Amino acid sequence: MSDSDSMVAKVYAAASAEKQQAAYDEWAASYERDLFAMGYRLPAVAAAVFARFVPTETAPILDAGCGGGAQAEPLALLGYSSITGIDLSEGMLSVARSKGIYAELKQMALGERIDLPEDHFTAVLSTGAITPGHAPPESFDGLIKTAKTGALIVFGLRVDEGQNPAYPAAVARLERDKAWRRMFATDKFQTMPYGEPEIWNAVFVYEVL
Ligand SMILES: C[S@@+](CC[C@H](N)C(=O)[O-])C[C@H]1O[C@@H](n2cnc3c(N)ncnc32)[C@H](O)[C@@H]1O
Repeated sequence: MSDSDSMVAKVYAAASAEKQQAAYDEWAASYERDLFAMGYRLPAVAAAVFARFVPTETAPILDAGCGGGAQAEPLALLGYSSITGIDLSEGMLSVARSKGIYAELKQMALGERIDLPEDHFTAVLSTGAITPGHAPPESFDGLIKTAKTGALIVFGLRVDEGQNPAYPAAVARLERDKAWRRMFATDKFQTMPYGEPEIWNAVFVYEVL
């Protein structure tokens, strides 16, 4: 098993938020090199979808589970600004901080009460964070709460057999409760084809109602 394989296994196996945070703190410096070597394509696909639906002048934008900023980088290149990043891991946040592309960065756990204003963000993006072994399905409720009515929430969701059904169930519950409505979904694609070929995501766009 390579070092990067063992770090992926470690973050997925973390049994608590504390262990998860420690695993990402340890991985932060080499996370991007390891993931992109595995063909990590979620940030590119999500940025393309975001750019198709969200005008560039939209602000403020929330990057939830921002990690080291791999997702916000293509957005910044496309001209989006006023991006707030939140993440569990200080190590990942410090990599994100070094890129100088965020208006603000805050250490915070999705799924618990998030310390962000209600009815505030005009667009939200989340990739790779609301997923088994990471932030819980209830995280979607918090994203909706901090977003304005009419805001778009763009997120990657696992759609392979390893997905925990509680995640799509949370998405469907919020749709049934008319908290949001689906605007778009990509076809499914392998998220890291050269490292974790069994993991497939699709990128979804929901409008907050
Ligand atoms: C696979 S990385 C994705 C990071 C970034 N969005 C990207 O695409 O590169 C998952 C991130 O989720 C963060 N994370 C895990 N559980 C979390 C939680 N409950 N709240 C906030 N962030 C969390 C980790 O610290 C890590 O930075």
